[in-house]
Amino acid sequence: MGIYFLLLIVGLCWGQYDPNTLPKRTSIVHLFEWRWQDIALECERYLAPNGFGGVQVSPPNENVIITDPKQPWWERYQPVSYKLCTRSGNETEFKDMVTRCNNVGVHIYVDAVINHMCGANAGAGDHATCGSYFNAKTEDFPAVPYSGWDFNDHKCKSRSGNIENYQDISQVRDCRLVSLLDLALAKDSVRSRIAEYLNRLLAIGVAGFRIDAAKHMWPEDVKAVLDKLRDLNTQWFPAGTRPFIYQEVIDLGGEPIKGSDYFGNGRVTEFKYGAKLGTVIRKWNGEKMAYLKNWGEGWGFVPSDRALVFVDNHDNQRGHGAGGSSILTFWDARLYKMASGFMLAHPYGFTRVMSSFRWPRYFENGRDINDWVGPPSNEDGSIKPVTINEDTTCGNDWVCEHRWRQIKNMVIFRNVVDGEPFSNWWDNGSNQVAFGRGNKGFIIFNNDDWSLNVSLQTGLPAGTYCDVISGQKEGDFCTAVEVHVAADGMANFLIGNEDKDPFIAIHVDAKL
Ligand SMILES: *[C@@H]1O[C@H](CO)[C@@H](O)[C@H](O)[C@H]1NC(C)=O
Ligand SMILES: *[C@@H]1O[C@H](CO)[C@@H](O)[C@H](O)[C@H]1NC(C)=O
Ligand SMILES: *[C@@H]1O[C@H](CO)[C@@H](O)[C@H](O)[C@H]1NC(C)=O
Repeated sequence: MGIYFLLLIVGLCWGQYDPNTLPKRTSIVHLFEWRWQDIALECERYLAPNGFGGVQVSPPNENVIITDPKQPWWERYQPVSYKLCTRSGNETEFKDMVTRCNNVGVHIYVDAVINHMCGANAGAGDHATCGSYFNAKTEDFPAVPYSGWDFNDHKCKSRSGNIENYQDISQVRDCRLVSLLDLALAKDSVRSRIAEYLNRLLAIGVAGFRIDAAKHMWPEDVKAVLDKLRDLNTQWFPAGTRPFIYQEVIDLGGEPIKGSDYFGNGRVTEFKYGAKLGTVIRKWNGEKMAYLKNWGEGWGFVPSDRALVFVDNHDNQRGHGAGGSSILTFWDARLYKMASGFMLAHPYGFTRVMSSFRWPRYFENGRDINDWVGPPSNEDGSIKPVTINEDTTCGNDWVCEHRWRQIKNMVIFRNVVDGEPFSNWWDNGSNQVAFGRGNKGFIIFNNDDWSLNVSLQTGLPAGTYCDVISGQKEGDFCTAVEVHVAADGMANFLIGNEDKDPFIAIHVDAKL
């Protein structure tokens, strides 16, 4: 009875922190703005065979169609209804994707936009992705339905009705975020409508949610919605499994709202992680990789088991949201791969890999004037398919960072070393660092402006290992640098500062 009681408590209280990925699948990838049919294919042909645990998908519910500028990516963060009908696909396609991905052990995490509906200036009509009528001025969304009573206008105390002061907690949570109509989550009827939407997704087989703009909702209101959620679909998950929850809370310090305010509901997105890692790898502000020795909580981050971490996300890779110019993205490919390698090798947090589309980035006075540009699209507004080139990269301006050899192989590295301790740290007091993960893997970086030549304790069993960064093991062959680990675990590493990718990673599954 005692043990049963304990399990019950654990089951009820802790499930929302568990990513619900299969064992030894330790990362998810955000396939930003991809079509459902492309995601289904990617799960089957690439993500499952390469050990990815899941996919964060763009918001699947109906959104307003914005024409000025033409269909920006952020229109998907302006809901009109909870019909599953967007430029990524319709409900049939969504269900097909979830089924096919789950069938190969890759789970789907939905970006849930529940803080607000569309912007106050979105007009009235049926210019929405499913053609539903709405009126932003009167706050009428009959396809949900919501009416004026379901919004926070009476509660908001700012002059403009928008958030004006991030030091004022009530404003941040009760007023409009950049004019987006702020839902009254204190009302049970609103909570129920949102829970109905999320429960429909769970019934289809979704494994969890990114809660968009969580900082702009009261933690207890979010909790009241989550308490109404059903368990995951037992076709793919054990009975009683709770949805994984990670909340978008931008907390870089200096504001009264903290990531920790939301721990009761699930994990939070740790935005300090990418901002700091970018600063270190860029060597800004006197930062050095040697300082990464106590990376994690030692840097003021939330506890590892409450953190969802990433090098960049869809907002800050284009200058929106938090982090500023230190954020590394695919535009800085060499540094980005090092940052991704460090993140995926390090035990801190649950990791999300970004997968982007290219846009005509153009800076004027320090700001990218094309930061709004939406996904690769045809003339009629439909999103272009993700085509796959012969060399496994993607076409049609899809960047597919998750298919870059260095990143894909580090996703596998993380799976191989899962559960192993952080070990054998070494640094040269500058930007040459190395560490292991127990006796399963070892990684070494040279981000200094001179070459590296050292012998280090790897902790690995003796043998010849194939570096998974400069190439990889293919059958019995190694297309990369080979590393010889001696009987005492020592190995010599040579990394030129001008090498294409100045880091080496070895693990026991890539032993020759
Ligand atoms: C969903 O989209 C597919 C592909 O475009 C189409 O064949 C199908 O009829 C659509 N289903 C519904 C219910 O609209
Ligand atoms: C590390 O950096 C120092 C300077 O801080 C330099 O003298 C040394 O050669 C570098 N490499 C190694 C392996 O120590
Ligand atoms: C690296 O260091 C070892 C031992 O100090 C030395 O024998 C070797 O020649 C060095 N290699 C290079 C390429 O500098």
